[in-house]
Amino acid sequence: MTIRDLPQHPGETVTVSGWIATLRVHARVAFIVLRDGTGVVQGVVVKSQLAEDVWELATALTQESCIALTGVVRADARAPGGHELTVTAIDLVGASDEFPIQPKEHGVEFLLDHRHLWLRSNKQRAGLKVRAEVEHAIHEFFYERDFVRIDTPILTGSIGESAGTLFETDYFGQPAYLAQTGQLYVECACPAFRKVYCFGPTFRAEKSKTRRHLTEFWMIEPEVAFADSNDNMDLQEEFVCHIVARALERCGPELEILERDVSMLESVAPPFPRISYTEAVERLNAERLNAEPFEWGRDLGAVEEMTIASWFDRPVFVYNYPKEAKAFYMKENPDDPRTVLCNDLLAPEGYGEIIGGSQREDDLDRLLARIREEQLPEEAYGWYLDLRRYGTFPHSGFGLGLERTVGWITGRPHIRELVPFPRLINRLTP
Ligand code: 4AD
Ligand code: MG
Repeated sequence: MTIRDLPQHPGETVTVSGWIATLRVHARVAFIVLRDGTGVVQGVVVKSQLAEDVWELATALTQESCIALTGVVRADARAPGGHELTVTAIDLVGASDEFPIQPKEHGVEFLLDHRHLWLRSNKQRAGLKVRAEVEHAIHEFFYERDFVRIDTPILTGSIGESAGTLFETDYFGQPAYLAQTGQLYVECACPAFRKVYCFGPTFRAEKSKTRRHLTEFWMIEPEVAFADSNDNMDLQEEFVCHIVARALERCGPELEILERDVSMLESVAPPFPRISYTEAVERLNAERLNAEPFEWGRDLGAVEEMTIASWFDRPVFVYNYPKEAKAFYMKENPDDPRTVLCNDLLAPEGYGEIIGGSQREDDLDRLLARIREEQLPEEAYGWYLDLRRYGTFPHSGFGLGLERTVGWITGRPHIRELVPFPRLINRLTP
């Protein structure tokens, strides 16, 4: 029997197994709140109604011990979940001596050191549940639209994004890198399947210690043949709305545990505003009358992103950034060759960039020139350039960072809570 099923069994004697979330022992009665992964239920242990050894065991129990609790199911509107168990027997499955995480304030470093145990806490469980629901919604979104999922390699010889944030490893005597992106590979799958996506872990040796950087994060990267930059933004808009709607529809209890103001999510509907990088910079500078002007050409930082996002009540696209601020594979903008056909999607409430996307450079000579300009090792890109040699075609795609997106949806202060075992610049355990 699981706790979720108890309402179907009023009056019956049942056994549920789980872990003790909280425990209160009085002189003649004890209350055990049990968690089994499907819900929580309170077991009421009455001394006068039980054999002495059962009462003794009940009073000796400790937080997070694993037990099997047998009792009679009783409806009780005040109880969490609407039902209680009047306990008749207890079996100790696994004792728990001095569980390190107590119902009090702990420092975040302490909690991260005990992440393997912290996972059991209410808010952590709620956040990870939303993540799992969002992952499911993502696969469904692409499946329903005839995208083929392509799994891309994690060990690679080609730099996907930038040389500055590579994890290098020794691959039988030659250098290999942990993938920063699956993009270059999904691009190659486009002529085979037209619409594809990958969804996997990606790695960046980011020296940044911010609330939105992990060194290992999960990214969803669709790639679509014959889509231009505008089609690409349309798809992102539909995709993000789908994810948010699904979270609102299926994660009500979790968002409540997380004390999320869902009105901020309910306004997430098409169309999302679209503003060019150049317009955004002009408006930023108009607002910063007395400060140093933001120089055209620089990539937007967290502060600029936050300001731009604050102009709108829903996610905003910033499109066509300067070439020097973006990756080598982006297509030159024919109307303004100083810029590339790309976009970032900025989430509201200070969550910043959740998507980076672009139309890809499909011209062999221009792409080669960009690889040389960036001083990337040309020989490692032969296969990527072949895509421009054998039937080149317009195509676009994007990458959505899962933890940043779920961080925004759940309203958590730091994205490290939205991945089961975060990898940060100073953290590799547990
Ligand atoms: O903008 P980025 O670097 O784009 C790419 O990797 C492209 N290859 C995607 C594509 O076009 N297929 O990263 C995409 C997203 C960011 O918008 C952000 O959400 C997330 O990945 N991201 C990170 N998330 C957590 N920690 C980090 N260090 C991240 N770096 C990027
Ligand atoms: Mg980016």
